[in-house]
Amino acid sequence: MYYPDEIVEEVRMKNDIVDVVSGYVKIQKKGSSYFGLCPFHNEKSPSFSVSPSRQMYYCFGCGAGGNVFTFVMEYENYSFPEAIKHLAQKAGVSLPEAEYSEEMKKRESKRSRLLEVNKEAAKYFFYQLRSDKGEGGYAYLKKRQLSDETIKKFGLGFANVTSNDLVKYLKGKGFEDKLIQEAGLASFDEKYGMHDKFWNRVMFPIQDINHRVIGFGGRVMGDAKPKYLNSPETMIFDKSRNLYGLNYARTSRKNNVILCEGYMDVIAMHQAGFTQAVASLGTAFTEGQASLLKRYTEEVILAYDSDGAGTTAALRAIGILKEAGLTGKVLNLEPYKDPDEFIKNMGTEAFEERMKAAENSFFFEIRMLQKDYDLQDPESKTKFYREIAKKLCGFSEEVERDNYIQAVADKYSIGTQNLKKLVLSYATQTGLAKPAERPKSGIQKKNTPDEMRKKSQRLLLTWLVEEPSLYGKIKKYISTEDFTEDLYKKVAERLFADLEQGQMNPAAIISLFSDEEEQREVAGVFNTRLKELTTRAEQEKAFHDIVLAVKRNSYEYYSAQLGSDVSALNQVIAGKKALEELSKTHISLD
Ligand code: GTP
Ligand code: MN
Repeated sequence: MYYPDEIVEEVRMKNDIVDVVSGYVKIQKKGSSYFGLCPFHNEKSPSFSVSPSRQMYYCFGCGAGGNVFTFVMEYENYSFPEAIKHLAQKAGVSLPEAEYSEEMKKRESKRSRLLEVNKEAAKYFFYQLRSDKGEGGYAYLKKRQLSDETIKKFGLGFANVTSNDLVKYLKGKGFEDKLIQEAGLASFDEKYGMHDKFWNRVMFPIQDINHRVIGFGGRVMGDAKPKYLNSPETMIFDKSRNLYGLNYARTSRKNNVILCEGYMDVIAMHQAGFTQAVASLGTAFTEGQASLLKRYTEEVILAYDSDGAGTTAALRAIGILKEAGLTGKVLNLEPYKDPDEFIKNMGTEAFEERMKAAENSFFFEIRMLQKDYDLQDPESKTKFYREIAKKLCGFSEEVERDNYIQAVADKYSIGTQNLKKLVLSYATQTGLAKPAERPKSGIQKKNTPDEMRKKSQRLLLTWLVEEPSLYGKIKKYISTEDFTEDLYKKVAERLFADLEQGQMNPAAIISLFSDEEEQREVAGVFNTRLKELTTRAEQEKAFHDIVLAVKRNSYEYYSAQLGSDVSALNQVIAGKKALEELSKTHISLD
């Protein structure tokens, strides 16, 4: 572990999960737990639960779960030690120097080294912009009307024309070639050796929500191609789960988020006071980004380019926003190309006006659809109406659907009753009346033998957590050695030790794991709802089957190792005996 277990446990106990989570998510008490909308996936009805007694959270929709550390790690994009530091500070616990195990040191150091090298590169670019070599870059940013304050706020910089400047600088700071390459800042080639990825470009550092530099975008100052060059994805740079400008937008306290296409748009917006502007990172808007936004806002105003490509991108984004349960609106920036140009030519007030006039995303979709039809031609017009009806079927809630039918009918002078009939006939024809909502679950996996094996071990742990009294009844058959999955074995070791003492502390067990994925999986063990079995007899049979499955798997596992591992023999002999006994034993749940 990084920090001594007792310290980790102290920090955990001093941060009540309900307090911490409610700092981020609106949760309401229902029975013994709190419920709210899951911040980690898109949903409209609450399946995210926080248990004060267990000091854990769990989402029945997406399987996200863990203790207070996991939550902060997942929400703030922190590593385990970072989460501990953050929560220790919050609770006023002072931390000793961390103790690192070799493997953890390696992984943690890779992440933090990548962050460090990016930070150092950003500093270098920032400095270059102010040097003689950076004059061209500075002049370019000035030409684009950015103030010094803005340039500083976004940490803009410059990569000069020398093609291995940055590499030299970073190596001088003690960073190895391999790391510099892995960060996407340079590449190696036989002819030129190590050379910078970015040269002769103005540089936009891309920051995560905690202002850490995770990548870069670089723009040419003229018309050369590519216009923007972006860092590749790395261990710390996931383009689908970060947004440019969100580090500032998240604290802007506005009641919407403005979603733009480009970095320059975001910067121009912030400079004009629209500090809620963000942009995706040179790739199309994703579901992950929508869930990220869902944590901070209910309404997203699309400020995409007014050209064809921008419209297509906006239509795609609308669908994603809707899936995420976010209200989407579309800005009309005509006659300008993008928000940056609009604000320069028309100013802040005019932009405010356009914000107020932003079009409901459904009407925008219909208006764009209309362009494909000739309303003078009855046949084409009919087809258009049918398409409208089809789109209206997308509203699963009747009241909402009726409101839209009414509004669209008014707008396009279609009789409301006629449109209603059309919607109904389309819905019954295609069985689409109620589009099925498919929960995106991360916990459903195929029934491969490997999965079955894992599943039985996981379920056994879940049973023991649900009904600790069962431990006494199975301990003569099952030992921690029977858990052949490393993760479950580790959980079992701690859980069995606790149960021997007649206690249990699931949230503390989660802290044994420093990896977010592992924490999530362990949380799953503690929160899986056992299949609702109707009678006690059925439950007993189910439990018996699970115990037997775990034992049989263990027996087979150790039998396969007999040739190479002497200690397996004991397991096999004991296993055979236990299996025989188990098959004739009734384990009562009472
Ligand atoms: P300016 O011309 O500087 O105003 O650019 P913009 O902010 O108007 O951006 P534009 O609409 O041209 O592009 C939007 C975003 O797409 C940019 O911020 C980049 O992230 C990305 N992008 C643009 N051009 C390229 C390119 O040539 N390659 C890659 N990978 N991404 C690009
Ligand atoms: Mn632009």
